[in-house]
Amino acid sequence: MGTPTRWVTDTGEDHSRRYVERFRRMAADGADLGGEARLVDAMVRPGARILDAGCGPGRVGAVLHARGHHVVGVDADPGLVEAARQDHPGPTWLVADLAELDLAGSGLPAPFDAAVVAGNVMTFVAPGTEQDVLRRIAAHLAPDGIVLVGFGTDRGYPLADFDRHATAAGLTLEHRFATWDLRPWRRDAPFAVSVLRLPAADDRS
Ligand SMILES: C[S@@+](CC[C@H](N)C(=O)[O-])C[C@H]1O[C@@H](n2cnc3c(N)ncnc32)[C@H](O)[C@@H]1O
Repeated sequence: MGTPTRWVTDTGEDHSRRYVERFRRMAADGADLGGEARLVDAMVRPGARILDAGCGPGRVGAVLHARGHHVVGVDADPGLVEAARQDHPGPTWLVADLAELDLAGSGLPAPFDAAVVAGNVMTFVAPGTEQDVLRRIAAHLAPDGIVLVGFGTDRGYPLADFDRHATAAGLTLEHRFATWDLRPWRRDAPFAVSVLRLPAADDRS
């Protein structure tokens, strides 16, 4: 594993356990935890291969799996991956650093149709690794594959930097919304949901 993530350096010792408990409680109370997954599901073919990048305890990948997609979830926090395995059997849940992601070595050869990077993951990666994270995600996509990324715009990762890093990773910004349920984008919106796409095979020359 590379440089420690902000999820480790910027949060308290018990943070991951409390995060797991919070989401277990919300699930038990019947909260809607599937908003991000519904948007992804609307944008891919049935039975798509989907990477849940920074999956945490697995709430997004679990909904996509229940909708018939083939999900691989990756997170750097072993405790959260363990919770995903316990609570959501079905998808493949792996401990790995997105900044160094290389899933071919884990026997997962086929590329993904889509990746979802939900829950402020991009603001929790290790400082300075944002571009590497986007590059490694893009490297695991099929031609014409999409990446859906959501994060708070006031969390220290300016959107202009994100857009530059996405372009450097070979991804084109196709849509931007203010919420996962597609409220229109405004420059002062506190949250951004970006849809990025890799070129189709015949666009690459
Ligand atoms: C707020 S949680 C979101 C979890 C999940 N996506 C969700 O929405 O419930 C942020 C996650 O990003 C993960 N993360 C941050 N940097 C990472 C990296 N470089 N590689 C893998 N996971 C990372 C953290 O371990 C943490 O689980």
